[in-house]
Amino acid sequence: MRMSKVKVLFLPDQVTVEVEQGTSLLKAAAVAGISIKSTCGGAGTCGKCLVQVKEGEVRVDSTRNLSPAQQKQGMVLGCQAFAISDVTVEVPADSRLRRHQVLIGELEQPDLGDFPFEPLLRTVTLDLTPPTLDDITVDSQRLLAALAVQGYQPVHLPLRLLQRLPEDLRTAMWKVDVIMSLTDCGWQVIAVEPNNPGKERFGLAVDIGTTTVVVSLHNLANGQTVARAGTYNLQAQYGDDVISRMIHATENKDGLTELQQAVVKTINDLIRQIEKETQINREDIYGLVAAGNTTMSQLFLGISPKYIRLEPYIPTISSVAAVDAAEIGVKIHPRGMVYLIPSVASYVGGDITAGVLATRLTDAEEITLFIDIGTNGEMVLGNRDWLVTCACSAGPAFEGGGITFGMRAMEGAIERVKIDSSTGEIEYKTVQDAKPIGICGSGLIELLGQLRRAGLIDRTGKFTDQVQTDRLRERDGEKEYVLAWAKDSGSGKDIVITESDIKNLIRSKGAVYAGVRSLLRAVDLPLEAIDRIFIAGGFGHYLSIPEAVEIGLLPDVERDKYAYVGNTSLKGAQLALLSVSAWHRARQIGEMMTYIELSAGNTFMDEYVSALFLPHTDLTQFPSVKG
Ligand code: FES
Repeated sequence: MRMSKVKVLFLPDQVTVEVEQGTSLLKAAAVAGISIKSTCGGAGTCGKCLVQVKEGEVRVDSTRNLSPAQQKQGMVLGCQAFAISDVTVEVPADSRLRRHQVLIGELEQPDLGDFPFEPLLRTVTLDLTPPTLDDITVDSQRLLAALAVQGYQPVHLPLRLLQRLPEDLRTAMWKVDVIMSLTDCGWQVIAVEPNNPGKERFGLAVDIGTTTVVVSLHNLANGQTVARAGTYNLQAQYGDDVISRMIHATENKDGLTELQQAVVKTINDLIRQIEKETQINREDIYGLVAAGNTTMSQLFLGISPKYIRLEPYIPTISSVAAVDAAEIGVKIHPRGMVYLIPSVASYVGGDITAGVLATRLTDAEEITLFIDIGTNGEMVLGNRDWLVTCACSAGPAFEGGGITFGMRAMEGAIERVKIDSSTGEIEYKTVQDAKPIGICGSGLIELLGQLRRAGLIDRTGKFTDQVQTDRLRERDGEKEYVLAWAKDSGSGKDIVITESDIKNLIRSKGAVYAGVRSLLRAVDLPLEAIDRIFIAGGFGHYLSIPEAVEIGLLPDVERDKYAYVGNTSLKGAQLALLSVSAWHRARQIGEMMTYIELSAGNTFMDEYVSALFLPHTDLTQFPSVKG
């Protein structure tokens, strides 16, 4: 039976889309290109996808999280309201995904270090001798012979290139620029163009994060960075974290396609932005190297993450041969190639392999701990001889999930705090100095440390009555601390942290610390054996190390052992793009890492339970923190 169609008009955007009757307003918004917050991925539990129905009939399956007053105003959860007739829907500013503080960084040049500049995609100029009646070598052999003289052998000529080759060679009068890409079986020619010494060609490095996507564009003749751009991953409209994306991909009819198209659109939009800023044509980009966690990598290629989620947690790919960009919808040169940095296991992906590559962890004798803290805490321990790795589920708290006023690091998020221990008063700083509307991960870590230091909470995270302040109060049977009063906030509401929020944070920090301890125990090394600790990722950029140690998130070692290493996922992708040696090294690193599955055995659980105190049940592990 054919479903009838209905129209959904979104305000104030004035965008109308036609969808099948019974489509959720959240999905219709995605079709309209309007990104609505959807932390729970449409499960109806987070309450973030609020929209107002102005006209028309909708079927509402759940009103969870909605007050009677909101329902009276026509407010519905976008994921729980389904269009029955033509409808008009207003999307409030609060419900929209906004650009947030993406760690784009400066337009810095990649530091190849010891890796030679030898890009994965390169141009070879050939001055071929035209055929004559005395020289009847076929076109493809003529091309291959000339490439062999230049040292390129074996070289593959794909059919789509052969179909154009006779005209391409003759139009160019036999003087050609041959653009080649490295594959698992040698070199492959992706284009034959008339020789043009002035023409610049480019390659793209891409960090596909669950939350954000950052790209940098490089000149393939000299490796120089010519542009950089970043934005949030459009997949966020289908859920904030990896798990809700997996659920969306596997439990919805078009879920996998939607997620694949969303990340590809994110990348294509960034390419379009760079095109506008630099006047560089997207067709002059001949390939890209992407690094992302295992689920992001599979979704990018349109491979279901179903078995990553189910025990025994097996991904479909680790290392994968270069694929045609056009095949997955990436809009660069029509025959451009896409490379992915190899993953290690279900929850240790190419972003971590890229991080190990970028930090030269395997060049050093010193034992280094590399930590990337997000929804998952991924970590690697080792040196040039060995590497062990694990991932722990830190939960979404550090990215604002599961916290009453938690949010990502975007405009209005409290990112720094300081509490006066004698008065209990607080000073804070927000992203872009806007009025506060919530608190992000770095702010939450500082807040927890400061509440503890001021004596406002005890070691279990419960509020005490040690400090007399109006900011400490009880609402609906739960104690909470007011960070910002309604009159000062951007939302007109008091911004608070509750005891349940603190419990969630303690669980998250406990998981990360337990991961570190489990890795050390796996190789039977004490904490003191660690020579360096690298903190990676967008989150690391804003993280206060002293506060992170104070709450027991990070180990209590000399602070000068710590270093921020920034977005190493992107840096690793850049190295692989610009140096074949680095690309091969990335693959070796992927194979060299021994993955420790934390759910096997009791070590992690024991460590986790011990870490559910501030900073820890065993204070001897935190000698610099006052008990
Ligand atoms: S409640 Fe609708 S997306 Fe979470």
